[in-house]
Amino acid sequence: MANPSILILAGDGIGPEVMAEVKKIIGWYDAKRGITFDVSEDLVGGCAYDKHGTPLHDDTMAKAQEVDAVLLGAVGGPKYDTLDFSVKPERGLLRLRKEMDLYSNLRPAQCFDALADFSSLKREVVGGLDIVIVRELTSGIYFGEPRGIFTEGNERVGINTQRYTESEIARVARSAFELARRRSNKVCSMEKANVMESGILWRQVVQEIHDKEYPDVELSHMYADAGAMQLCRWPKQFDVIVTDNLFGDLLSDAAAMLTGSLGMLPSASLGAPMANGRPKALYEPVHGSAPDIAGQGKANPIACVLSFAMALRYSFDLGDEAERLEKAVEKVLADGYRTADLMGPEGGTPISTAAMGDAIVAALDASL
Ligand code: IPM
Ligand code: MG
Repeated sequence: MANPSILILAGDGIGPEVMAEVKKIIGWYDAKRGITFDVSEDLVGGCAYDKHGTPLHDDTMAKAQEVDAVLLGAVGGPKYDTLDFSVKPERGLLRLRKEMDLYSNLRPAQCFDALADFSSLKREVVGGLDIVIVRELTSGIYFGEPRGIFTEGNERVGINTQRYTESEIARVARSAFELARRRSNKVCSMEKANVMESGILWRQVVQEIHDKEYPDVELSHMYADAGAMQLCRWPKQFDVIVTDNLFGDLLSDAAAMLTGSLGMLPSASLGAPMANGRPKALYEPVHGSAPDIAGQGKANPIACVLSFAMALRYSFDLGDEAERLEKAVEKVLADGYRTADLMGPEGGTPISTAAMGDAIVAALDASL
């Protein structure tokens, strides 16, 4: 049988640096566990624009559709700020999500014990935190029509449209309920049903899917603004949060800080199963391209490494190996190794991006 295939799109800014550490880990699995992936690489974002005049070449899009999993680093940077909207680096990422139909974006926020004092919230609030935000990723205001900047009378008007069909809500709701069953069996759905019709429909459909198909899962509903407040007040009340594209974007950045650093958060974007039974999938850190620290060895590769762990679990059915990798990360943090974003008053051993990757590989070795 052919080896499972991975397409690496490292992208811009710190993307290539953090991805270099994931490549070390892919190499480790090949050498030490006999788990071999067919890895190919290509461009996305600003670097693709520089070469092809588009943030995602059609050939790259076609490759992404064929592989078992895509690993993405980050896109964007100040150099591209003035580009036309249609060719901005972010459009490359959004096209991948849309054309691969990756409607379910899993964003776990887990607070490693070693970092509990590093969060801007108190240890008792975040210690042991383990929640997942399931963000709808292919619809809503990110993609709704009409959109654009138009002229009305003698002024300009900017328009975006929040639009959700019943089936779009139903499929992401199912994905959240399925996930909850494998965890603490609790889902909280967030919208703004008090001001938005799309929010009213969201709440109704989530409730219907629950009552018909997942009555065993505990379901609650919250307005997204109240949800943001509760996420800061007592995040451990949640298990799985399911929400739309825009609210999910905001809430997941907020959740990231609960864990200590945005440099820690992985994500999996999953679509429908392919012919081989695996879901269409793209894995990426929640953080961006961080151009201010790019090229200096300061970036934290852990979010990208943990994204690869999610790939092991969700695309390759290697849950045990995912756990091995997560434990290796936990050990390195417990041993006090810290990239620049994790250096606080309590100290630790400051190390570079590459040294963090090496430390994780050493911890993997120790796990054998
Ligand atoms: C994210 C990012 C993206 C988004 C950007 C880079 C387009 O913020 O994945 O959270 O808004 O979805
Ligand atoms: Mg975001």
